[in-house]
Amino acid sequence: MSESIDIARLGCLADYQQAAAALLPPERWAYLNAGSADGLVARRNREALDRLTLMPRMLRDMQGAHTRIELLGRSYPHPLLIAPTAQHALAHPQAEIATALAAAAMQTPYIVSCQASTLIEDIRMRVPQGERWLQLYLHYPRKALQDLLRRAEDTGFCAIVITVDAPLQGLRNEDTRQGFAPVAHAAAVNLATYPAPPEITLAAGESLLKSARMAQLPGWEDVAWLVSQTPLPVWVKGILNPLDVAPAIAAGSAGIIVSNHGGRALDAVPASIEALPAIVQEVAGRMPVLMDGGIRRGSDILKALALGADAVLIGRPILHGLAVGGASGVAHVLHLLLRELEHSMVLCGLRHPTEATATWLA
Ligand code: FNR
Ligand code: LAC
Repeated sequence: MSESIDIARLGCLADYQQAAAALLPPERWAYLNAGSADGLVARRNREALDRLTLMPRMLRDMQGAHTRIELLGRSYPHPLLIAPTAQHALAHPQAEIATALAAAAMQTPYIVSCQASTLIEDIRMRVPQGERWLQLYLHYPRKALQDLLRRAEDTGFCAIVITVDAPLQGLRNEDTRQGFAPVAHAAAVNLATYPAPPEITLAAGESLLKSARMAQLPGWEDVAWLVSQTPLPVWVKGILNPLDVAPAIAAGSAGIIVSNHGGRALDAVPASIEALPAIVQEVAGRMPVLMDGGIRRGSDILKALALGADAVLIGRPILHGLAVGGASGVAHVLHLLLRELEHSMVLCGLRHPTEATATWLA
């Protein structure tokens, strides 16, 4: 932990963000926190949550209140998961080990990015406890995906998350401005033994749409294939358009994660919280729906639950906690958010997550 930061003075996730920004070199901060292009969607995620207001009920009996939820038949102590984010070694030397320790201590499922800077086998060895899911992209070769699925099954992962909103990386203008360059000790070690998808280097005047990469872009048939390759439930992350619900169900996915990649993919899409209701309506209870993007307060979690999410994920706040205080920082971030959730529930008269419906919104 940094000598200069008194963790006791950090009372909410925004405080962690500020402390992490002050601590990290600007080029790392750019990679770990910026949105793509003009940062519109990253901002929109927050603004749309801020615009929503809760409509509390008074004098309700709160005995027996709880934050427990169920997803796919499993019980969880609270409606919060850790979103997959790449390369935790950029934030802290203990990297994913620290995140896994905090997640296990706080009983929060941790979705490990395939671009983690720690081998999943090492995470398992150092932190045997805790529920973890593995996030993958479909643009890796099928042999690599099969191998990653076997490794995930062998190391006790409980679910797979396929991220579908970034077949190409978003426009990382802030990274360019700040001079962010790949850092060797934060490399995506879990992918090191597989052939990398070819880089897109276009000569002047050469068209992206005519490049070899287009033939390799994945489709729904690849989701169906992946589902057929593992007994683990497969979630699809990065859905915004309700028209994508039917193909996700047809491909055999277990659930949907409404997400715009934290505003790091296409910088011209709705806030996740704005996209959520139409997805929930289209899913119509056939599978669970999670959501991420801009969740920073316990009251934000309630807003997402009221609009039909079964649970939410947080991305950047975990990296902020990690940068500031390693495992203790991440655990403190989770603790602060979960206590805020309970606090909001009491002030709203909401007894448990599944009670949250649109009647709790003004
Ligand atoms: C991400 N995100 C992401 N998503 C994913 O599916 N695989 C990944 O490897 C990454 N990597 C990643 C790195 C960094 C630095 C950030 C900030 C985000 C997106 C992430 O899972 C999640 O969708 C957003 O971060 C959620 O928004 P908030 O909570 O950060 O506002
Ligand atoms: C990102 C990629 C790793 O958002 O998903 O940086």
